[in-house]
Amino acid sequence: MKIKTARYHTSAATYETCPDSKWAEFAFVGRSNVGKSSLINMLTNQKELAKTSGVPGKTQLISFFDIDQRWYLVDLPGYGFAKVSKAQQEIFNINVSAYLTQRESLKHVFALVDSHLEPQESDLNFMAWLEECEVPYSVVFTKIDKSSDGAVKRHMGLFHDALKERHLNPTMTFRCSAKTSRGRGPILNFIEGKLPNKKADKPKTAMNLSWMNKK
Ligand code: GTP
Ligand code: MG
Repeated sequence: MKIKTARYHTSAATYETCPDSKWAEFAFVGRSNVGKSSLINMLTNQKELAKTSGVPGKTQLISFFDIDQRWYLVDLPGYGFAKVSKAQQEIFNINVSAYLTQRESLKHVFALVDSHLEPQESDLNFMAWLEECEVPYSVVFTKIDKSSDGAVKRHMGLFHDALKERHLNPTMTFRCSAKTSRGRGPILNFIEGKLPNKKADKPKTAMNLSWMNKK
């Protein structure tokens, strides 16, 4: 799938203030610093559409990006950022949980995992919670440019073992690098497969029977 236009739409501090849901939404979630905002920029081929930072906790709002006036990419704040106060973490939990479990237009969640690290308890717990709430999700291993292919494979294997142990079944598994754009195609094709059919979206017009008059 090709993206023609990608624009910032709006940000919401709370679930209640999220915009009316016009189109299908795809959300990116994961620990602070895992690369959510960078992945949104990589998918849309724009350097600064979503704000990125080396300092964890940069994204504090739920941000909506309008893609081709047809669907939204949604950037969520990261979880497990130690420097965020307990009260702030609680607000995150309430709003992000509400968004993930209540939002009707949310079609799929991409749960990001740092391929540079061994399996993290917080990621596995988060996926267990998604499954408990019946939120459809896929795993995306990020930053694959940072380690050798062998190390990435090892970490992915360990993560899959941990998922299996907990009887967790993500829909798909992706790997990507926001730096090299590796892994972009499969994620976009997956999203395309979940979008409502363009033709079916068109309002029906009066039946055209002009061919009957032709000799
Ligand atoms: P929060 O908004 O704080 O939750 O973080 P985030 O998950 O949005 O992470 P962000 O995209 O801001 O990236 C965090 C850091 O990781 C930045 O310094 C990025 O440049 C770096 N980074 C993100 N993706 C990649 C990648 O694929 N490869 C490499 N090498 N670095 C990456
Ligand atoms: Mg971010």
